[in-house]
Amino acid sequence: MIQDFKGKTAVLTGAGSGFGLECARIGAKLGMNLVLVDVQQDALDKATAELQATGVQLLSRKVDVSDQAQMEALAADVFKTFGAPHFVFNNAGVGSAGLIWENSVKDWEWVLGVNVWGVIHGVRLFTPMMLDAASKDPNWRGHIVNTASMAGLLTPPNMGIYNVSKHAVVSLTETLYQDLKLVSDQLSASVLCPYFVPTGISQSHRNKPADLADEKATQSQLIGQAMSDKAVSSGKVTAAEVAQLVFDAISADRFYIFSHPRALGNVRARMEGIVNITNPADPFLERPEIGVGLRAALRKA
Ligand SMILES: NC(=O)c1ccc[n+]([C@@H]2O[C@H](COP(=O)([O-])OP(=O)(O)OC[C@H]3O[C@@H](n4cnc5c(N)ncnc54)[C@H](O)[C@@H]3O)[C@@H](O)[C@H]2O)c1
Repeated sequence: MIQDFKGKTAVLTGAGSGFGLECARIGAKLGMNLVLVDVQQDALDKATAELQATGVQLLSRKVDVSDQAQMEALAADVFKTFGAPHFVFNNAGVGSAGLIWENSVKDWEWVLGVNVWGVIHGVRLFTPMMLDAASKDPNWRGHIVNTASMAGLLTPPNMGIYNVSKHAVVSLTETLYQDLKLVSDQLSASVLCPYFVPTGISQSHRNKPADLADEKATQSQLIGQAMSDKAVSSGKVTAAEVAQLVFDAISADRFYIFSHPRALGNVRARMEGIVNITNPADPFLERPEIGVGLRAALRKA
């Protein structure tokens, strides 16, 4: 629970775009020291120039969050420059669509690498630093926010690789919260579960490793890509609004951060299916025409 952000340090992964960039903008307004992390150099440079102009102290690092050595070097740099960070936003993520048996091994490794290993590295490298700072000062407060998705609580079809990665982030973060409560009252965690919000996420193939970029998309992957483009671009809640929810949650020590609380009806239906031991429900109950269209397209393919 951080109440006063001024002079505190934020490490933000995926800071070149979307939620990461918007959280960095809020952090700058609050007078935080910023560590901007992204794999996309041009986006990172643009964000760095914009935020440097606000006069905050800033470290900018091109890092692939899935890479152990790069993340270890980042953690060492952060500690040397600012000491233990107070807010760590393990947020960088990528999406990939298609029927779950059609994703290649490289595709699985890429998405799980960024979405899951990126969070694992952030948690395993920064938490001990933060706990150490807390043990030396009873007034020290820290917070870790990991970005999952509503796809971490639901299982929408034709995007299984993403669902798997985000379920892992929800589980990891709930466990992190419980583990932190065992050892400290000064450090807490939250999980961000956005629904569809217009950002660069449906264009994440722009950051695919070169050996993956050449793979030819299957029909289900092309259909999934088109559906995700449409859903993400027509989202009404903005990334800036979601970023504000993140800061509000840190101040209130609120664990679950939802951009669209109304979508939780689907989570309730899933959970009820589990405890009632019924088979998974039709995911398109509210929008049956989408299910009809998707089935028709895939069966024809
Ligand atoms: N926008 C949505 O509708 C939505 C919904 C649910 C969850 N999310 C999650 O939100 C998070 C942020 O995404 P966003 O929506 O702001 O999308 P975005 O594409 O605008 O931002 C993601 C950033 O992560 C960076 N990135 C990608 N791979 C990286 C890597 N290996 N190492 C470091 N940085 C990397 C990208 O360059 C980009 O700047 C992701 O984890 C995403 O899965 C987004």
